[in-house]
Amino acid sequence: MSDKTRSIHGEWSSRFAFILAATGSAVGLGNIWKFPYITGQNGGGAFVMVYLACVAAIGVPIMIAEIMLGRRGRQSPINTMQRLSVEAGADPRWHYLGWLGMIAGFLILAYYSVIAGWAMAYIFKAFFGGFFGTDAGEVKAMFDGLMASPLQQLFWHTLFMFITMQVVMRGVQGGLEKAVRFLMPALFVILMILVAYAMSSGAYERGIDFLFSPDFSKIDADAVLTAMGHAFFTLSLGMGAIMVYGSYLPGHVSIAKTTFFIAGADTIVALLAGIAIFPLVFANNLEAAAGPGLIFQTLPLAFGHMGGGWLFGVLFFVLLFFAALTSSISLIEPTVAWLVENKNIERRRACIWSGSACWALGVAVVFSFNIWSGHKWFDKNLFELLDYLTANLMLPIGGLCIALFAGWTMRQADTEQELEMPAQGFQVWQVLIKYVAPASVFLVFLHVLGVL
Ligand code: PHE
Ligand code: NA
Repeated sequence: MSDKTRSIHGEWSSRFAFILAATGSAVGLGNIWKFPYITGQNGGGAFVMVYLACVAAIGVPIMIAEIMLGRRGRQSPINTMQRLSVEAGADPRWHYLGWLGMIAGFLILAYYSVIAGWAMAYIFKAFFGGFFGTDAGEVKAMFDGLMASPLQQLFWHTLFMFITMQVVMRGVQGGLEKAVRFLMPALFVILMILVAYAMSSGAYERGIDFLFSPDFSKIDADAVLTAMGHAFFTLSLGMGAIMVYGSYLPGHVSIAKTTFFIAGADTIVALLAGIAIFPLVFANNLEAAAGPGLIFQTLPLAFGHMGGGWLFGVLFFVLLFFAALTSSISLIEPTVAWLVENKNIERRRACIWSGSACWALGVAVVFSFNIWSGHKWFDKNLFELLDYLTANLMLPIGGLCIALFAGWTMRQADTEQELEMPAQGFQVWQVLIKYVAPASVFLVFLHVLGVL
């Protein structure tokens, strides 16, 4: 319905292009690196259940809302929120929501780029036969070696940030479509191959059991917050990434159907990654709670022992790199779009400024894994602090505000017109966005604070 307004940054060529880009944003390190390791740290099944419930009851309705706000506002999240609040006759201070999101994306990218750098380093380890015939001890030593080396991590972090900004400079609509079109099916195939290997590992059932048999005594309030925060993180919600992509979406596209596809693809990739990894963990007597190194300490074992492991190993880490790249560009796009709109500078310079600042923070994140690992705030090093602050706090708060704005502040006639859903579907969405999603986020926060 928004054909009358178009984004100054360009538009997707089709609905399919938007789906590809948004799926590219969603599927990333969150699915393959983060989901398995936080599941391992939080005891498995019960944590997975809470995460899946949050995706369905909070993530899906908020994604619908975020795409809708973007398409109607047609600008960077800050200006979109400004425009829409004026349009709804509401307080223009809603635009601070855009600020919160922009800063969250910036902070996430600082560490996201470091982890993506690890994936790049592993492309080369795989290429030079580094996994061949290794045992668990050697694979762990390899990862510890990378952690102990600020220089190696800096090199890869710098390269990753440079590539990200190159892509963003060209405008997100360019090469992105092609990259994701090949990326998703390839990622899917290689995960299936890893799952097949996991089936032969001797501990497949233990792995499945760990992932899917819930034992709720294993999780506490903080685990629930982590699961909820991860639902936002993995779906790229609560910070304007999906909103800014929605602003490049042509009118007359079913937002709800699009959302189901994106959330479905994201969830499947995460579950496949978990199914591939945990049998390996148990078959090799590794620690499920090993932390951020989990995939780097398990998957090389599979590649080092299976037929065709050299090829699959190289391919896997190349694909992981691309998956990270299609997410990282969406983390910085709100900042770049805002700089172009408000500071009146060209896209190129906006990229150089924002990319450099983000890179600098990333350097500190690299050090938090080695020379600064002793520096802690609230018992967390810089990496852990940034992750907690963004995924567990900023994204859920951003999402809560998005839900309140879409559910209560916007006129119902407007949301109805924008979403063009069948009447029943619209009613379900309304209940979720007005009551279920905000109340859940709120209750989880109260629970963590010990009030409830
Ligand atoms: N969804 C991405 C992932 O799972 C991370 C991300 C978060 C991207 C927020 C954009 C915004 O890897
Ligand atoms: Na994801």
